[in-house]
Amino acid sequence: MIKANSISAYPDERFNEELEADNVLQLQLDYSIVRAAYEEVEAIVSADYFEGVKECENTGIGLRSFCPGWNGDLRWISSVNETAFAFFDRYFDKLGVVEKTKAIIGDCGDLIMYSGFFVVRSHTKEPYYHFDFSPEVGLNAFTLMTPVTPIGDAGNLLYHDAYEEERVYKYACGTAACFGGGFYHSTEPFESSEPYVFLCFTFGVNDLEHWDAIADAAAEQSPIYRHPTRGIVKSGIV
Ligand SMILES: [Fe+2]
Repeated sequence: MIKANSISAYPDERFNEELEADNVLQLQLDYSIVRAAYEEVEAIVSADYFEGVKECENTGIGLRSFCPGWNGDLRWISSVNETAFAFFDRYFDKLGVVEKTKAIIGDCGDLIMYSGFFVVRSHTKEPYYHFDFSPEVGLNAFTLMTPVTPIGDAGNLLYHDAYEEERVYKYACGTAACFGGGFYHSTEPFESSEPYVFLCFTFGVNDLEHWDAIADAAAEQSPIYRHPTRGIVKSGIV
């Protein structure tokens, strides 16, 4: 029998033995490159809480800060112009995300960055559990999160393992966690005097077969993102 969703370029599932959960990867990254990305835009990303757009005077990188709520002061700080998009794209390449991902899940086709952004927050009151990508996306798209600032004992990642038990994954500088389809997670409640900062990317396959299931999450954080076939486009978010 042919499954309705049997078009996957990448597998639907991969068990992570360390986290005992499906569809979550850990990549080792060069932390000095993560810091370098942050330092290029530090004046904006480290600014006191704000919503709206700021532009780096010397580089022209335009970033937009948006707070989606989610039980705390979470901000997504993402691209509003092509200069900013190119900035994230450059660091996505420098960090070798595609090569490192393929080293784990195999090479079943091209992977591209859809968007880049920083996540900044200093507190969250209650868990907000969600999927970034629905289970049918499988290993065809991911959200990558890697800390820029050290993360304390709280404020790490809550997730459901393969046995539906709640567990905690501790973030570490120089390690990225990549959440694929059906990975159910939340930020662990915390409060910190210094905001926690993460560098993040969404990335995945560059074919349209999977795009309907990927599109909303890939475009959710950023006013502009890379479409698999149309290049850099506006998401409709202002
Ligand atoms: Fe998430």
